[in-house]
Amino acid sequence: MVERKISPVLKWAGGKRQLLEQIVDNMPAEYNNYYEPFIGSAAVLFGITPAHAFVNDINEQLVNLYVQLKVAVESVIEKVNEMDAVPCTKELYYTVRERYNSKIAGCYFDAECAALMIWINKHCFNGLYRVNGKGLFNVPYNNKINGKSIDESNIRAISEYLQSADITITCLDFERACDGVSLGDFVYFDSPYVPESITASFTDYTYGWFHSCRS
Ligand SMILES: C[S@@+](CC[C@H](N)C(=O)[O-])C[C@H]1O[C@@H](n2cnc3c(N)ncnc32)[C@H](O)[C@@H]1O
Repeated sequence: MVERKISPVLKWAGGKRQLLEQIVDNMPAEYNNYYEPFIGSAAVLFGITPAHAFVNDINEQLVNLYVQLKVAVESVIEKVNEMDAVPCTKELYYTVRERYNSKIAGCYFDAECAALMIWINKHCFNGLYRVNGKGLFNVPYNNKINGKSIDESNIRAISEYLQSADITITCLDFERACDGVSLGDFVYFDSPYVPESITASFTDYTYGWFHSCRS
């Protein structure tokens, strides 16, 4: 199993990195399979690194990111580093965002799409993930010149964990993702929050619950 501690690659609305200790304190000491149907930034999964897990999210780009970190981590790192080699400007941000949206529109889920998602998460306003009615990413530039977008040793350790453990990664509605749950399994639900008002909503993680490139 993985030696070093691993942590999320993305900043994510509702991410539980800061609450990890309290969550772990309230989990059962033993269980069979671990289920996390709303994985988001994977703060809890990465905090506990279970040997057998079923993880899921409705956001296809996010699920692609975890799949790519599992199967093509070096390619993702190389592509992020290529982008980091050029100082970020407002113009560059919007060019990269356009490239990312062309991947989304064409349903091209690959290592480049994962790398674009990581880079954009570091350069967009507040690390938000918000899409418009067409499912295209529309968060503006954060107006900061950032350094490296990844911690390579963390990202390699994540890949090692995803490869060495028995992890099933799916992109389904949460109910279907929990179809296989049986007695003795542990399910950690961290669903999206209901916004205080329509304008207060920053949690449009994906366009519609049932929109999919696979349908
Ligand atoms: C509050 S966040 C989870 C945060 C996560 N615990 C973390 O630490 O980052 C909720 C997640 O649910 C996902 N989601 C929204 N609707 C969903 C659905 N119907 N089925 C599965 N996932 C869904 C969103 O894409 C988002 O990543």
